[in-house]
Amino acid sequence: MSDFHYYEPRRGHGLRHDPLNAIVGPRPIGWIASRDREGRVNLAPYSFFNAFNYTPPIIGFASIGWKDSVSNIEATGEFAWNLATRPLAEAMNASCAPVAHGVDEFGLAGLTHAPSRLIAPPRVAESPVSFECRLTQLVQLKGGGGEAIDTWLVLGEVVAVHIDKALLREGVYDTVLAEPILRGGGPADYFAISESQRFRMWRPG
Ligand SMILES: Cc1cc2nc3c(=O)[nH]c(=O)nc-3n(C[C@H](O)[C@H](O)[C@H](O)COP(=O)(O)O)c2cc1C
Repeated sequence: MSDFHYYEPRRGHGLRHDPLNAIVGPRPIGWIASRDREGRVNLAPYSFFNAFNYTPPIIGFASIGWKDSVSNIEATGEFAWNLATRPLAEAMNASCAPVAHGVDEFGLAGLTHAPSRLIAPPRVAESPVSFECRLTQLVQLKGGGGEAIDTWLVLGEVVAVHIDKALLREGVYDTVLAEPILRGGGPADYFAISESQRFRMWRPG
């Protein structure tokens, strides 16, 4: 018979760390570049991130609080998503520093701007995959009682895609080759993926 730790989040989890992030994990990382109206560039990682639609492709991330990325994207309607990879892990981490608005985290993290084609925010030149995105919805989240909370879901349509051709094998994008990093739980856990962890399963019917 199983013995469950049960809790109701509103009353606290009763553990040393909130387990939510470790349970819903590992999560892909939205490494988001944006620009304010004056053209100042910003870069930050968001692991409350995922893809939500194929056609048109829609991706999104949630900002806990009204952060610079949200402010810039609301103002300009554009952002670039970049793939965070194992070789770029430390740079990704450096780009989350809580610095003043207007400080370009590309510089802090030793990264280079690559020009985008359809939007103004630059891509991370060192990243092997980037998406150019246009804001489609900016949604303030609500709690179960209907009360507005200070968390902002940014959804955007992917209007252009850049893939390093080294990640394509006979026309198929290979996830393992890109060495993406994923965010686990706790203050510092990340996961890498490798070929040994791949398994295949086809849908019924
Ligand atoms: C791997 C990683 C994932 C993160 N995920 C989130 C997230 O999902 N939501 C959030 O609000 N902050 C997240 N943060 C913290 C932000 O990156 C940090 O607050 C950053 O300074 C925000 O930058 P900005 O104000 O320039 O947008 C994360 C940090 C790291 C390192």
